Amino acid sequence: MHVAARTQHLRESVIREMTRLALSCGAVNLSQGFPDFDPPEAVLAAAVAALRNGHNQYSVSWGLPVLRERLAQRYRAMLGWDVDPDRHVAVTCGVTEAVACAFFAVLDRGDEVLVLEPAHETYGPAALLADAKIVPVVLDPPNFRLDVERVAAAVTPRTRAILVNTPHNPSGRVFDHVELAALAEVVLRHDLVVVTDEIYDEILYDGRLHVSPGSLEALRERTITIGGLGKTFAMTGWRLGYAIAPSSLAVAVRGAHDFLTVCAATPLQAAGAAALELGADYFNRLRAEYHERRALFCSALDEVGLRAQWPQGAYYAMADFTEIRADLDDLAFTHWLMNEVGVACVPGRVFYSDPARGRTQVRFAFAKRTETLHEAVARLRAALL
Ligand SMILES: Cc1ncc(COP(=O)(O)O)c(C=O)c1O
Repeated sequence: MHVAARTQHLRESVIREMTRLALSCGAVNLSQGFPDFDPPEAVLAAAVAALRNGHNQYSVSWGLPVLRERLAQRYRAMLGWDVDPDRHVAVTCGVTEAVACAFFAVLDRGDEVLVLEPAHETYGPAALLADAKIVPVVLDPPNFRLDVERVAAAVTPRTRAILVNTPHNPSGRVFDHVELAALAEVVLRHDLVVVTDEIYDEILYDGRLHVSPGSLEALRERTITIGGLGKTFAMTGWRLGYAIAPSSLAVAVRGAHDFLTVCAATPLQAAGAAALELGADYFNRLRAEYHERRALFCSALDEVGLRAQWPQGAYYAMADFTEIRADLDDLAFTHWLMNEVGVACVPGRVFYSDPARGRTQVRFAFAKRTETLHEAVARLRAALL
């Protein structure tokens, strides 16, 4: 049977494949970026209450009012403009859907969107489904700084948008004010839209501050700010994301979302609103626990010779493995580590348009319980020291 050309380049997500393989061979799964612990008890209770109390039908397409109100409150403070829950917010089925809707909203057939690489694997397929394409702008290890000259050099007459992910998966970079202000100049010069993916905005280390690109005055009118609840509240399976944008962009995002998924799961939206009401204690504890996880896992990587820059944000470590097995490429190393050492990670190639760029790198996700990380570290030490 004929299938549309756009689907022929869609393959099973390598990250999700690694999870599947890890489960089948008993490896400690540090591949896919999800916590192996539950959301806060109060949020689980709110979900059960929502199910029991009649929140079981479609919500307003762009989100349950109470959740949009909480999001608007949060983003008024974060972006510094008067975010209106009725006009500027769209709740989606995860950040994945929000990014796709943003692309549908701003990209026409044949348009180009710049993407900072290494990059999360969802952006390329989202562009493909919009009949557009990504143009990579590479960030170099080990520092992964944003080089705006490279951004400017990648612009063509078809460039419509740039996708910025901060805190950044997989490098762990948190782009600073200097980098983003320089980026804003290029964006204005070429009249681009900025689509941001800020799903890790609460997972920061060493007192670092998250700068939301849409909070820069120059970018305010041209930024679609995307975030999600999955990582912050350990609920990746609940599929809750959102987009915040000025009216003309928000209308276009909502239109795409309406006809893709109608709405996100209503009872979970109600519980998501409860999650956003958790106070500073929750967020302080979240950060303290991630500091502990980072220290435990990244110091073990240092010790066994997997060379990784400790992340500034998010919960990944991108490591160079050449001191251990220079004879293997990233895919072969990933399989070797899974089968011989019992630890699952993700090959570097997944994050680049040109797989060769990821040849010496693998990514570990350390959003795991201490016991899980201890087990992974014990296996790495036993095999590699
Ligand atoms: C940078 C980034 N964006 C988007 C996603 C997907 O988000 P969601 O599960 O909310 O669709 C992930 C998940 O790992 C991610 O790391």
